[in-house]
Amino acid sequence: MTGETVHKLRGDYSRMRPDYTVDQEWDAYSAGEHELWRRLYRRQQSLVAKYACDEFNDTLAALRFGEGIPRFDAINRKLAVVTNWQLVAVPGLLPDLAFFEHLAHRRFPVTVWIREPEEFDYIVEPDVFHDFFGHVPMLFNPVFADYMQAYGQGGIKAHALGAIEMLSRLYWYTVEFGLIETPKGLRAYGAGILSSGGEIGYCIDNPRPNRIGFDLMRIMQTRYKIDTFQETYFVIREFRELFDATAPDFTPYYAELRGREPHAASALLAGERVLHRGTGSRDESH
Ligand code: PHE
Ligand code: CO
Repeated sequence: MTGETVHKLRGDYSRMRPDYTVDQEWDAYSAGEHELWRRLYRRQQSLVAKYACDEFNDTLAALRFGEGIPRFDAINRKLAVVTNWQLVAVPGLLPDLAFFEHLAHRRFPVTVWIREPEEFDYIVEPDVFHDFFGHVPMLFNPVFADYMQAYGQGGIKAHALGAIEMLSRLYWYTVEFGLIETPKGLRAYGAGILSSGGEIGYCIDNPRPNRIGFDLMRIMQTRYKIDTFQETYFVIREFRELFDATAPDFTPYYAELRGREPHAASALLAGERVLHRGTGSRDESH
């Protein structure tokens, strides 16, 4: 996740390297912090079983990192042989370009600190639980892993073209809040959903939000909300769709989008087909 601003963030940015990385300092986590991880993990584990895509759940089960805040080094040994990604420890959100540079080199920045117990259900900035639980399992999927790297390369280009706002919407509506249509129904693959106790059920079961088919240009023209559950989710059919749709040079896309007014997060356009609920079992009012 990129940060529009890097001031007033809660991480300790005083001891980082020029590429914004730090040492994880795993030994410095307290027993209480590991206990908080276990609680977060346990709650989320039962939710993802119902709402996450198989690609996520299968990896989560194989990795077994529920016993405490994981050591990044240990996961890196496994990631290296599967998709050649690596986790790097960071103090928190990074400036856009630094973030893109890491992704372009198949390095995923993971925040080292964990939220306070009072923030069990909601945090403003991503912490180690969001970054690790939400993002890391998907990095083991080869197609998704390649998409993430391509996104980083695209980010460097978008930065040069002044198009980060448009490209960031793509990250938001796929990597953070993406849904996928599966034979079992709609499932989540976006990390912002997968690490959230409330939104994971909402995004699939609640009748309120719009769920519409993945459409690259539509996404890059759509604003998003950062302080509420999403009003619109975009649904892919397979991970290959993400990779293929984003393969072309975006330069002419950005030029076209620049002349258009962005859609509101809640917009539903003429002719758009809204997808039905997946499991349809609950009606949380919100
Ligand atoms: N192909 C895009 C470009 O040329 C880069 C990109 C790849 C963007 C994957 C997003 C995701 O800008
Ligand atoms: Co994230």
